[in-house]
Amino acid sequence: MIAELREELKKYREQGKTIGLVPTMGALHEGHASLVRRSVEENDVTVVSIFLNPTQFNDKTDLAKYPRTLEADCGLLEECGATIAFAPSVDEIYPEPDTRQFSYPPTDSVMEGAFRPGHFNGVCQIVSKLFMIVEPDRAYFGEKDFQQIAVIRRMVDDLGFRLQIVPCPVVREESGLAMSSRNTLLSSEERNIAANIYQTLRKSREWMGDLSVKELHDRVVAEINAVEGLQVQYYSIVDGLSLAEINSWDESDDIVGCITVYCGNQPIRLIDHIRYKG
Ligand code: PAF
Repeated sequence: MIAELREELKKYREQGKTIGLVPTMGALHEGHASLVRRSVEENDVTVVSIFLNPTQFNDKTDLAKYPRTLEADCGLLEECGATIAFAPSVDEIYPEPDTRQFSYPPTDSVMEGAFRPGHFNGVCQIVSKLFMIVEPDRAYFGEKDFQQIAVIRRMVDDLGFRLQIVPCPVVREESGLAMSSRNTLLSSEERNIAANIYQTLRKSREWMGDLSVKELHDRVVAEINAVEGLQVQYYSIVDGLSLAEINSWDESDDIVGCITVYCGNQPIRLIDHIRYKG
């Protein structure tokens, strides 16, 4: 399948066609659809990979409960005008265990990197493989995974991939909840509860003028933890490029608050972020 895909893409390249890649783990939703539509608009050919990458899950129960909806995914991709859906098996991608180690601190060592050891190493393993297989001109990633984009940018610079990373805005449900494949694991009551995450982040932008970074941090955490069914794992206010924590609002022109919250009894881990400056 990899060989066939390469062969097909070689033909397109010989015809001078540009190639966009949208890497996904399946369980596609409107957020993914927005990436695919953008790639279709900006490229002659759009490849969407659907691969639930085991090496980026440090928690195997998380991997086991990740939603799998391949048939519906293919339907959505057709509707969005994707040229090729590439859904390889684990053995095809990893015929041998991938022993490569990637390290781009602080982007990959803070926040998700600290709470999910090995996660970004797995992301770099699969994304670098996809880049080598597809050789896209542009690759599209959702800004919902804000930290992931920062890590992938470092990897692209490090390994010298000649492609453009295109970050795409978060797509939200009407309540403000960031769209995520994991949302399907929430009950409708939990979805309502989870909407408090972004609602609080939005309100926090108004508190900026009156509060120090630490005070604002503590208020966001307290307000979200006060909602029954929500528990903040971390809230970090960081420089938007290096992802290093900041202590004062003057420290950077690009400031982002990144949060991870557990929701419900199972519980489901949800991430989101808000831009304060930049
Ligand atoms: O963002 C995701 O869905 C995954 O981390 C990615 C980029 C498809 C790599 O498996």
